Amino acid sequence: MSSDNLKKTIGVALGVCLVASILVSTAAVELKPIQTKNAKLDLLINILEAGDLYSPGVDIQQTYNEKISAELIELETGKPLTESEYTAELTPEKFDLKSWASSPELGTPIPSEQDLADIKRQPKYMAVYTVKNTDGEIEKYIMPIMGTGLWSTLYGFIALDKDLKTIKGFTFYEHGETPGLGGEVDNPKWKQQWVGKKAFDDNWDVKIQVLKGTVDETDPNKQFKVDGLSGSTLTTRGVDNLVRYWLGENGYGHFIDYLRGES
Ligand SMILES: Cc1cc2nc3c(=O)[nH]c(=O)nc-3n(C[C@H](O)[C@H](O)[C@H](O)COP(=O)(O)O)c2cc1C
Repeated sequence: MSSDNLKKTIGVALGVCLVASILVSTAAVELKPIQTKNAKLDLLINILEAGDLYSPGVDIQQTYNEKISAELIELETGKPLTESEYTAELTPEKFDLKSWASSPELGTPIPSEQDLADIKRQPKYMAVYTVKNTDGEIEKYIMPIMGTGLWSTLYGFIALDKDLKTIKGFTFYEHGETPGLGGEVDNPKWKQQWVGKKAFDDNWDVKIQVLKGTVDETDPNKQFKVDGLSGSTLTTRGVDNLVRYWLGENGYGHFIDYLRGES
């Protein structure tokens, strides 16, 4: 190949690379707002799902605005923040489980002996979503949860009835467990069996448990038990641990005590 041809070939190759990189970066920049909007909508769908307020075709934002109000609570005290305590970054709208957990200001490390959900850090403040009826009375509380499975951290929501004992919904919106195995956490049938189960016993000790195996229908304590995922003991154990962590004293325990005190 002559040196002229070589120069042309390199020139064309560089040109193609340049055009391609401009196209890719333009697409990335242009698509970013759409991706952010879709991620937000997906989160809202999951909040609505946990609150049993979602069906395909509903106007997600409108249903959320009409039925749900979000507040921030401080995990350590269990108390809701007053609006005067909100800052530009510390608002329910800005709540982001992942980034708040890892933030030096908004997150806090979990001592290993307390870290049942195996997450190392958690936000100091959590968003709690309340579902109200048309008379403005609270029907349920939807609370974010996270914990380690086999391959990934699972992020989701648990919904509790206003009695604070009965589980009304359970869903994950992000995880990396294997489809067909740990990924069966997304199976609607598996999620549905959480509904109606009791999270606490009469002494308000966390009693809900995800079994390795299936619930015995003749078990007098079956209201505290959920079927495990078959062939997925490790994801099952992770879900069991994370749900008990978040309902316990290092999770929403103080908030639940606060609400009980209030009522
Ligand atoms: C490719 C592959 C993917 C797996 N994914 C999962 C998973 O997502 N969750 C899980 O608990 N176990 C998963 N397992 C199985 C675990 O390695 C382990 O065998 C299982 O949790 C034991 O469950 P069992 O006691 O119910 O059989 C996977 C195994 C393989 C080979």
